[in-house]
Amino acid sequence: MIPLNATIEKIMEESPFIRTFVFDHRFEEMEPGQFVMVWVRGVDEVPMGLSRKNSITVQNVGEATAKLFELKEGDSFGLRGPLGKGFSSPAAGEKILVIAGGVGAAPLAPYAEAASTAGAKVHTILGARSGGDLLFEERFAAAGVLDITTDDGSKGTKGFVTDVLKKIDVSSYDNIAVCGPEVMMGFIFKILQEKEVLDKSEFSLHRYFKCGIGVCGACCIDRSGLRVCKDGPVFSGVQLVDSELGKYARDASGRRVKI
Ligand SMILES: Cc1cc2nc3c(=O)[nH]c(=O)nc-3n(C[C@H](O)[C@H](O)[C@H](O)COP(=O)(O)OP(=O)(O)OC[C@H]3O[C@@H](n4cnc5c(N)ncnc54)[C@H](O)[C@@H]3O)c2cc1C
Ligand code: FES
Repeated sequence: MIPLNATIEKIMEESPFIRTFVFDHRFEEMEPGQFVMVWVRGVDEVPMGLSRKNSITVQNVGEATAKLFELKEGDSFGLRGPLGKGFSSPAAGEKILVIAGGVGAAPLAPYAEAASTAGAKVHTILGARSGGDLLFEERFAAAGVLDITTDDGSKGTKGFVTDVLKKIDVSSYDNIAVCGPEVMMGFIFKILQEKEVLDKSEFSLHRYFKCGIGVCGACCIDRSGLRVCKDGPVFSGVQLVDSELGKYARDASGRRVKI
């Protein structure tokens, strides 16, 4: 797949370390949870979830993302996608629980909006380090009921998304969609497993991607060998039973890295 050239139309400062880049191409058929491979010319090609049909939302963590942060409106990058498997389509009348941590809110905001548009009842638990780091608060609030948690207590409940989750009757939801830091997802997985609702859950995983299209095997997870880029990044909780989720991942050279 040859990358298309996407010109940046607008850059939005979401927090000190997170920016949204709106570009001049709309992926009309994208499923929330699908991603694009972003070619930062001269540096690298990295995966990013689509935060809208025409935007990515990026946390500045290293070389490629720092280069993205140097770009201005009118500059461009290459895009391949949309790729992978997104969240299941919600139906009218369903009750949906969305659990988002940090930049994990990026693929979940379009999911919450699609669920609300389809007539589902959406309840989001949105967590971040502090109030200033919360992503897409207005979008989640417009889609349904919103619970906020912050590590420092500057907004919402002081603590983690799991503190709110533990108090909820999860059995009443038809689908539970999760994306965020893997430590957070590991704890959520255990809670949902104990409450015997893994069959209703979906987790969006992050792994090191090279090809992004299921060819190189860089992103395979143990023990199933499923490819995160092609069979995911969204997996049902049932697919992740006895997997490496929350324990380890692999770096660029395939070495195990403890989570
Ligand atoms: C399906 C998927 C969706 C993602 N969506 C988003 C998003 O919406 N917003 C966002 O900010 N980040 C997202 N990421 C993470 C993003 O790809 C990495 O933060 C980015 O690649 C870091 O690149 P870097 O060169 O700036 O950092 P580096 O310094 O190279 O690396 C920092 C960390 O980023 C990760 N990383 C680096 N290169 C890759 C790669 N090729 N593939 C996967 N991970 C890599 C590694 O864990 C590494 O430890 C997503 C990752 C995946 C797999
Ligand atoms: S990144 Fe190549 S198979 Fe997934």
